Amino acid sequence: MAKTPNDPRKEIDTLLDERRTFVPPKEFSDVANVSDPEIYDRAGADPEAFWESFAHELEWSEPWSKVLEWNPPNAKWFVGGKINASVNCVDRHVRTARRNKAALIWEGEPGDRRTLTYFDLYREVNAFGGVLKSLGVRRGDRVALYMPLVPELAIAMLACARIGAVHSVVFGGFSAESLRDRINDAEACVLVTADGGYRRGQVVPLKQMADDALRETPSINHVVVVRRQQHDPLPVTMQPDRDYWYHELMMKAPSACEPEEMDSEDLLYILYTSGTTGKPKGIVHTTGGYLVGTYATTKWVFDLKEDDVYWCTADIGWVTGHSYLVYGPLANGATAVMYEGAPDWPAQDRLWEIVERYGVTIFYTAPTAIRAFMRWGTKWPAKRDLSSLRLLGSVGEPINPEAWMWYYEHIGRQLCPVVDTWWQTETGAILITPLPGLTTLKPGSASHPFPGITAEIRTADGQVVTEGGGLLAITKPWPSMLRGIYGDPDRFIQQYWSQWSDGMYFTGDGAKLDADGYFWLLGRVDDVLNVAGHRIGTMEVESALVDHSAVAEAAVVGRTHEIKGQAIAAFVTIREGVSSSDELIENLKSHVVKKIGAIAKPDLILFASDLPKTRSGKIMRRLLRDIADGKTLGDTTTLADPSVVARLQEDYADEQG
Ligand code: WTA
Repeated sequence: MAKTPNDPRKEIDTLLDERRTFVPPKEFSDVANVSDPEIYDRAGADPEAFWESFAHELEWSEPWSKVLEWNPPNAKWFVGGKINASVNCVDRHVRTARRNKAALIWEGEPGDRRTLTYFDLYREVNAFGGVLKSLGVRRGDRVALYMPLVPELAIAMLACARIGAVHSVVFGGFSAESLRDRINDAEACVLVTADGGYRRGQVVPLKQMADDALRETPSINHVVVVRRQQHDPLPVTMQPDRDYWYHELMMKAPSACEPEEMDSEDLLYILYTSGTTGKPKGIVHTTGGYLVGTYATTKWVFDLKEDDVYWCTADIGWVTGHSYLVYGPLANGATAVMYEGAPDWPAQDRLWEIVERYGVTIFYTAPTAIRAFMRWGTKWPAKRDLSSLRLLGSVGEPINPEAWMWYYEHIGRQLCPVVDTWWQTETGAILITPLPGLTTLKPGSASHPFPGITAEIRTADGQVVTEGGGLLAITKPWPSMLRGIYGDPDRFIQQYWSQWSDGMYFTGDGAKLDADGYFWLLGRVDDVLNVAGHRIGTMEVESALVDHSAVAEAAVVGRTHEIKGQAIAAFVTIREGVSSSDELIENLKSHVVKKIGAIAKPDLILFASDLPKTRSGKIMRRLLRDIADGKTLGDTTTLADPSVVARLQEDYADEQG
């Protein structure tokens, strides 16, 4: 694309050409929560003592007898300690000057607003804990939450934690079938949902979708429905003796609900994420270690202070919302902003309007959003007063240096450090990240492992790479690490602990180390896509396509996308007698949306008479990726039938042309 003379990207290019680095502003580091570089060595020398010091800042009803018991790959942290997550996120603040401090500042997409203080949150969590108990939920039971981004979602999570139930949040963008499968895998006994949620002015009919799922969920005894709109209620059907309105149950709820004393290693939650097979994995997190990890990283990575107004834009349906909208900030007694809807509704300055209204000081979002802001142009942030911001964060996918620079300049006014934080659903908390008062930033690099974390770049056969690229390994256990895949111990070992013979944690990510020892994350090396910061397994999409009666075979790959990072491209061979048409393409896309959800809708479907396979019958996805990205193809000599590729390339060119 040609540039105009006063194109802002020119400035960015100049900065990038200089390979500029960014030293923390002195005003920032002088008062930062961490500014002593020795911390890395101290934590590295004794990680258990390091983590223990954070554990001491939380409230335990019984102390631990041992920090770590490590029988690879099984870790127990704070062994014997007793703790309740809701007490740490709510009760202990209510006993202090934070009692009437805003815990959650919420804004709905249509413009409705609510602020809950810690004391409000305390009452709501107690009441809903009592409600769940009255519905028969007991310690250890699983509760599924399928909700829009409303305060009741955080309340329901904390209420589960209070009574010792395990929550399983299912993102509201997933389909009825995805919800059904997740409920059944966890055998949840109660579902909490809402009549609907708002997205770009449209209503997402969550209860209606839940009703479809509930036809095949034998474990569910009761459904609680939050009424999202009081004045203009969204239509729903309530099944007698199974479905109840949240607000009606809350009116009858007892005002106090004693917290269960949980073991440090008791389950806190399950969160499903995509892997390399067609079936999502229920990642299991336990209580003590997870809280310590999210508490510590929120405090240090975001340099959280008492008077900060902290905003993580992630939906609670993903791990980022769990760790950095609910548990991390609330365990720290922070004020967290929560916004239900789309960033461009009703206009493309919605997020900046929110920053201005509440005086947000810390802002944490995803590169895909930053790239969308860039596309929309600087006039939107320029319209608003963003001077309250002092720190910016990024998560979910590699941030390209151009997006980093744009964020730094146009949102951060060249004053706010940008923390590019690498982590995963499995890691529970941020593992590779700058510390904003300490780290010299390089745009595009997540910099260094958090103190107490040790990461390595390795070759596939386990050689350690000291400079250059390879696979990212985490070499020591950490408190918030996953404890397993729900109901599937073999897959847990196979997926994460079998890449190398010494049983190090395999992240599934590629990364490189530069000469200064900075980590650069390069994206997934397995069959997992990262579409607009959301993890989607290629096999899941393939299974959804093959489920359609017209499809014989399907191969799904990621293609480069300017905003989303990756978009889904599907190569499909159809059954004999079925003819390809635009209508069939639309049908197939809808079928994937029905099976998985709108987030997995393919961007491109291409009909192929054959797929490129090796002589042993394996589909060569690498070639398909190159075709989808319009690249010149590498070696095709291992193909069973090389002419297949030439035909595919022609089809692809026709499609694009
Ligand atoms: C990717 C989201 C580069 C990575 C917290 C990882 C990143 C996957 C970054 C986990 C980052 C996350 N730089 N890549 N800062 N953060 N990723 O489970 O590929 O939804 O494996 O957790 O996102 O996605 P998940």
